[in-house]
Amino acid sequence: MRITTCTNLFFVLITLCLVFLDVGIATDIVTSSEFIKDPENITSRGGNFTLGFFSPENSTNRYVGIWWQPLFTVIWVANRNQPLRDSSGSVTISDEGNLVVLNGQGQVIWSSNVSKLGSDSTCKLLDSGNLVLQESKSGNNLWQSFEHPSHVFLPGMKLASNKREGAKINLISWRNPLNPSLGSFSFSVERLSLPEVFIWNETRPYWRTGPWNGKVFTGVPTMRSFYLSGIRVEDDGQGNVDLSYAYVDEAGFSINILNSQGNYQELKWDGEKREWLVTWNSHQLKCDVYGTCGPFASCNSQKSPTCSCLRGFEPRNKEEWNRQIWTSGCVRRIPLLQCERANNLNTSADNIADGFLKLQMVKVPDFADGSALTLKPDTCRSQCLENCSCIAYSYDAEIGCMSWTGNLIDIQQFSNGGLDLYIRVAHTELDKERHMRMIITVTVTIGTAVVVVCAYIMWRKISKHHARKRNSKGSHQFNGGGTPAESTSKNAIVELSQVKLQELSIFNFGKLVTATNNFHPSNILGQGGFGPVYKGQLQDGQEIAVKRLSRASGQGLEEFMNEVVVISKLQHRNLVRLLGCCIEGEEKMLIYEFMPNKSLDAYIFDPSKNELLVWKKRFNIIEGVARGLLYLHRDSRLKIIHRDLKASNILLDGELNPKISDFGMAKIFGGTDDQVNTRRIVGTYGYMSPEYAMLGLFSEKSDVFSYGVLLLEIASGRRNSSFCDNENPLTLLGFAWMQWKENNISPLMDPRVYDPDLYKYIFRCIHIGLLCVQESASDRPTMAAVISMLNSEIVDLPPPRKPAFILTQDMLGSMSFKKGNSLYSLNPVTISEIQGR
Ligand SMILES: *[C@@H]1O[C@H](CO)[C@@H](O)[C@H](O)[C@H]1NC(C)=O
Ligand SMILES: *[C@@H]1O[C@H](CO)[C@@H](O)[C@H](O)[C@H]1NC(C)=O
Ligand SMILES: *[C@@H]1O[C@H](CO)[C@@H](O)[C@H](O)[C@H]1NC(C)=O
Ligand SMILES: *[C@@H]1O[C@H](CO)[C@@H](O)[C@H](O)[C@H]1NC(C)=O
Ligand SMILES: *[C@@H]1O[C@H](CO)[C@@H](O)[C@H](O)[C@H]1NC(C)=O
Ligand SMILES: *[C@@H]1O[C@H](CO)[C@@H](O)[C@H](O)[C@H]1NC(C)=O
Ligand SMILES: *[C@@H]1O[C@H](CO)[C@@H](O)[C@H](O)[C@H]1NC(C)=O
Repeated sequence: MRITTCTNLFFVLITLCLVFLDVGIATDIVTSSEFIKDPENITSRGGNFTLGFFSPENSTNRYVGIWWQPLFTVIWVANRNQPLRDSSGSVTISDEGNLVVLNGQGQVIWSSNVSKLGSDSTCKLLDSGNLVLQESKSGNNLWQSFEHPSHVFLPGMKLASNKREGAKINLISWRNPLNPSLGSFSFSVERLSLPEVFIWNETRPYWRTGPWNGKVFTGVPTMRSFYLSGIRVEDDGQGNVDLSYAYVDEAGFSINILNSQGNYQELKWDGEKREWLVTWNSHQLKCDVYGTCGPFASCNSQKSPTCSCLRGFEPRNKEEWNRQIWTSGCVRRIPLLQCERANNLNTSADNIADGFLKLQMVKVPDFADGSALTLKPDTCRSQCLENCSCIAYSYDAEIGCMSWTGNLIDIQQFSNGGLDLYIRVAHTELDKERHMRMIITVTVTIGTAVVVVCAYIMWRKISKHHARKRNSKGSHQFNGGGTPAESTSKNAIVELSQVKLQELSIFNFGKLVTATNNFHPSNILGQGGFGPVYKGQLQDGQEIAVKRLSRASGQGLEEFMNEVVVISKLQHRNLVRLLGCCIEGEEKMLIYEFMPNKSLDAYIFDPSKNELLVWKKRFNIIEGVARGLLYLHRDSRLKIIHRDLKASNILLDGELNPKISDFGMAKIFGGTDDQVNTRRIVGTYGYMSPEYAMLGLFSEKSDVFSYGVLLLEIASGRRNSSFCDNENPLTLLGFAWMQWKENNISPLMDPRVYDPDLYKYIFRCIHIGLLCVQESASDRPTMAAVISMLNSEIVDLPPPRKPAFILTQDMLGSMSFKKGNSLYSLNPVTISEIQGR
């Protein structure tokens, strides 16, 4: 009797145990014994994704799908075209090991369709939203929902196309918002030699991104740079080109949906309001629809009429065109003669060579041919000219030459971003164009001259201190040296002439040639923002640094002017001093005091030198840079934001005092406006604040961010941009934060420079650095506060919040990528242009 009770009890216990265990395990898996039956469901471990049965609104059809739990959002559907008509369905593992959906009669209505299966498999719903069929024993993946997506693109997924087999992993829209069956729109990677992403309406293209250049899609100016968007296109070497994306901003969850109208949208989860925000949309403008204007026309959503023929072309059907029916497009006005003549008459083609008309800032047409990377845009031109089938070319520094042979279709005009397209036209067309341009140039030049003269007279009148008579030769030569193409910097020139009328010494070019030994390469000190910097010695023995605007760079001119304008107005012991400039003919140079100890990066990141920088010196540099920056932000007459603060822009004098240099990017403010939105984002990755890098918003707090990065670099002796090893997924910022939270910063420090006796001071410094790199600009202190903190005038520091960019990009994506396309530019050069959204 007793024994039986005991046995019974034991039995009950075991059963209970088993039941509990079962329940514990079974929440996120399906096996042949643990199947789900409508309306049951399973949830991923973290609780954000659920696999189960659902019915769209106003429908009785049942579908098996995965949804995002916080706000019922379906991200994947199994039986899209085979709905269950009642709620008797179930999901299980079939005898041969496939994941299957069965109807009430036990018939398979949907299967994962894997052919070679072992015996025993398990299906698991992961926290990423991926449903994975695994071999139970080995854990090998047999099938996963991420490789068979529905209409939603999630981080961790790859959309792919195969060059040889033509196999594709793509998104397919729902038929309508209430019907998950296969709709008419799809989203896929195409044109695999120069990959781009397309949305198709059945078989017709409906939208395209323009070619991928390794960083961005060239035809999507609103796209964040890939450094920030996490979007990546890669060739895996096996003929697969795939598209993937990763979270960059780990604070928010976002998904991408191809909706049933063929619109691809990025939705970001707003945790507070508990709703999705549409943060990006493929079809924002009329011109986003593929080929709106037909061949040889360009589409500009901001203009009316939207479509216009390319220069040198006219409507194929004038009457239709006037009624705004664009589909037949445009045709060439004057036939191309060069090739015809050369073929038929066997004459030299020189005198009738075709030319090219430039179209700026466009989404280049579809069907580009890429050729091997060329360093010079000029080669693209000659290549195209030589080949009679080439009717247009374009150049992108990352892609090289692109050329077109057929119809030029789907050209979209942007107001910023995009590429320049050169369209082949007959040489008579070019003459006409030249004539026009001449008229315009003359008008503009005269206009500008009048404005400059007026401004000058005004200035003369207003100015109380009469300027001394200037050497008019310099300014005359300067104007003579400019070409019409340089009209972009006219404002700068006006300003420059004002500056020059004040107190800027002009150096004689000949003197500088002598001083630098004819710009001998051995005298190069480094690369400034817009050209090389040479060391020189004047006849009186004074050493100087000469920054020479490289002649090739058109962009540099603007930065050159900017630097002159900014720095000539500033004087502070922590800013590099401008001695004068030299402008003669094509030569434009700035002459600075010479800094014998070069730039800070050469010191702190050079193993042989960084030991020379004891903590006291380091702190002196940290403080000096802060003072220089405060002067820029507040104490000078103007408010100036440097925008490109980094170790290589801090120069060290003989006593290792820091001097901020390189004002090519700096921005002057009137005084009251303190946050500005810019289209053109300039700066250096690793030092750029998130709001600036992502949104193009900058304020003095963006400089504070860069300063914080610099501070952490100086204090730790480690470089932010190359702070990554395999064990460590964190950036310097992230690592510093973690270590600070653990109250132990020793691992952060470069052992060669670390002095444990000074732990307290270093810790405090790191703390201040962390306050400067906080994600939200409003949390960051001003430079004035930073100086008070450094001087311990402010004793109690607030705890820093999580910094921006704590994870290295490597960790954000699970996949590896080619070296050339490495997310992190290890070499901390200034990038000149990325687009904010
Ligand atoms: C998921 O399952 C739980 C418990 O089985 C149930 O309460 C819940 O309503 C189900 N959710 C849906 C959307 O069917
Ligand atoms: C689930 O979503 C919330 C809200 O976006 C997020 O905070 C949380 O980290 C997610 N959990 C998992 C396990 O992904
Ligand atoms: C569902 O049906 C009701 C009643 O016919 C209608 O008012 C509602 O708009 C429908 N919902 C959707 C999403 O169409
Ligand atoms: C599985 O294979 C069968 C036959 O090859 C096919 O009819 C069915 O559509 C496939 N199902 C899926 C989900 O691919
Ligand atoms: C998609 O194509 C169909 C014809 O195949 C057409 O009727 C429909 O208007 C197109 N949809 C869009 C959004 O252009
Ligand atoms: C063109 O000139 C070349 C040599 O100059 C000659 O060999 C060729 O026959 C000529 N072709 C025609 C069509 O005249
Ligand atoms: C001209 O260009 C076409 C298309 O890019 C190419 O197929 C052809 O080989 C080129 N011809 C020559 C002579 O380079």
